[in-house]
Amino acid sequence: MNNRRAAAVMRADAPVLAPGHVWLAGAGPGDPGLLTLDALAGLSQADVVVHDALVDRRVLALAGSQARLEFAGKRGGRPSAEQRDISTRLIELARAGHRVLRLKGGDPCMFGRGGEEALALSAAGVPFRIIPGVTAGLAGLTAAAIPATFRGMNRALILAAGYGADDDGLDWSALARTGQPIVLYMAMRNLAAIADQLMRGGLPPSTPAAIVVSATMADERIVVSTLERVAADAQDHQLGTPAIIIIGEIVRLRARLMEAVREGEAAT
Ligand SMILES: C[S@@+](CC[C@H](N)C(=O)[O-])C[C@H]1O[C@@H](n2cnc3c(N)ncnc32)[C@H](O)[C@@H]1O
Repeated sequence: MNNRRAAAVMRADAPVLAPGHVWLAGAGPGDPGLLTLDALAGLSQADVVVHDALVDRRVLALAGSQARLEFAGKRGGRPSAEQRDISTRLIELARAGHRVLRLKGGDPCMFGRGGEEALALSAAGVPFRIIPGVTAGLAGLTAAAIPATFRGMNRALILAAGYGADDDGLDWSALARTGQPIVLYMAMRNLAAIADQLMRGGLPPSTPAAIVVSATMADERIVVSTLERVAADAQDHQLGTPAIIIIGEIVRLRARLMEAVREGEAAT
């Protein structure tokens, strides 16, 4: 991004990313429109951007021309970076006097290990700042016309990680008994086992479910299903990752909201 464009979008009191400092920032779920102004300020000032695989290419394109992009992700078929290595690299870059933007998909502290990186920077005496981001588990719902809460329908929303369905000690039956909608991150591999446990915990097999793949990205896909069918539908539709899965009555509102949006668009 050139300086004029950056200046046009940045707040007058935008924070300054100083040499030797690290910003741990969220890049949102994909669409650059969901980037915060502070993350954008970081992109325009950083001379090194250390990013995850989930950071959308369109967001990385907003980095200043002085910025070097360094991949530090754990997906995408490239060699896995150990968490310790990433923290060490951030410390090394800061100590070399760089302005470092550590950019993570969604929110840096939502299943993003931002907290661990912050603690490592703190222990090393590196000045840092944490910039919140829009998490996929909220943006993905709204982008799919599924309201996270709806008066009279739910008063809570459970955000849960779906890896290690059997061995991570998460009590899925207890989550099912709350009757509140559940948003699953990283759950595609264990979806059948999780759905099974939620049904055994008392959720009706007919509970509406939706899978949102690549929310707000160019290849976004949305499939609506039921708890009983959701794992099979994911397979039948050959859905990949990243994906969030929403389980609960709020999914039913999607059809009504889509209709309302269409009517609104037709009226303009
Ligand atoms: C390691 S977690 C990182 C979450 C991220 N920090 C956030 O706040 O969204 C990765 C998981 O987030 C979810 N995710 C992230 N971006 C997504 C997107 N654009 N669409 C759907 N799911 C996404 C997927 O469940 C993915 O497996």
